[in-house]
Amino acid sequence: MARRLSDLRRAADERGEVVAVERLGGGLVEISVRLPHTAAMARPGEFAQLRCGTPPLPLLRRPFSVAWVEGEVCGFVLEPLGEGTRRLAGLHAGDTLQSLGPLGSGFTLPAAGRVVCVAGGLGCAPFPLAVRRARQAGAGEVVVLNGAASAERLYPADRLSRGDPCIRVVEATDDGSRGHHGHVTELVAAELDGAAALWACGPNPMLVALAAVLGRAGAALPPIVEASLEAPMGCGFGTCLGCALPVRDGAGGRFALCCREGPVMPVAEVDWEGLAALPPAYVA
Ligand SMILES: Cc1cc2nc3c(=O)[nH]c(=O)nc-3n(C[C@H](O)[C@H](O)[C@H](O)COP(=O)(O)OP(=O)(O)OC[C@H]3O[C@@H](n4cnc5c(N)ncnc54)[C@H](O)[C@@H]3O)c2cc1C
Ligand code: FES
Repeated sequence: MARRLSDLRRAADERGEVVAVERLGGGLVEISVRLPHTAAMARPGEFAQLRCGTPPLPLLRRPFSVAWVEGEVCGFVLEPLGEGTRRLAGLHAGDTLQSLGPLGSGFTLPAAGRVVCVAGGLGCAPFPLAVRRARQAGAGEVVVLNGAASAERLYPADRLSRGDPCIRVVEATDDGSRGHHGHVTELVAAELDGAAALWACGPNPMLVALAAVLGRAGAALPPIVEASLEAPMGCGFGTCLGCALPVRDGAGGRFALCCREGPVMPVAEVDWEGLAALPPAYVA
């Protein structure tokens, strides 16, 4: 497996002014922050390490996908979960936060063809930017399969398509309150034919299920099949070694740092059995 490492020279420390904090349904929060460097540099699937509040707490920054970019402003989508996300969700317009980014290795853009995106829950976060960049790079159509536990927890379809008729959003909910009743992974097989790329992001158990679906598809797979993985991240740039994930390497295996070789990795190169066996911090 060829190692693709993130380029740390592209990242910068920024202190950004919060422009807006919007409460979407189901506990999702969208934060818009003026971060000129990250806005100019971010590629789809890359992330920023964010922190707010008075030092020393929280000590560590937390990783968040760059959800969208508009001029000098970056958008992030999150939900209050623990200390870090609660503090970020409690910000108001005019507050400041610290960001280190962009970090990581993102999705590979095809030059043409159809792109299929598979989003589970907060895995929707990288896709507003990713679908737009895919269209700018030449994708004729982008299909976003967007799944969540219930209708109110679905990231709004119009924020993914932004009026572009060539971006189609297909929704799925676990409780059947909107769209397909079931898991979003059940929609994938029907969309694979002729696709140039498949990109996925969601909780690791969803990605394990997706890998099984793709394994059954065999030869029908697109040339690019990538997933954005999650791991606990202390630093985001390869120093703490806290984000190691099992990957396949030739006939054997090794651990790869999610923050440098990922978070986006080729699906064929992830050791999905090893990932499924990791402790709970990796499956949240
Ligand atoms: C590359 C990357 C991009 C991410 N992008 C987003 C995003 O756009 N939006 C979003 O809401 N979340 C995103 N996450 C997950 C987010 O970073 C965690 O939810 C956050 O760090 C939790 O911090 P906390 O202080 O609120 O929770 P903590 O108090 O640290 O932990 C609360 C719970 O969250 C789990 N958790 C902690 N860190 C992670 C992690 N890195 N990944 C998954 N679960 C974790 C813990 O196991 C625990 O169950 C991303 C994670 C990664 C690795
Ligand atoms: S987050 Fe520190 S090495 Fe990856």
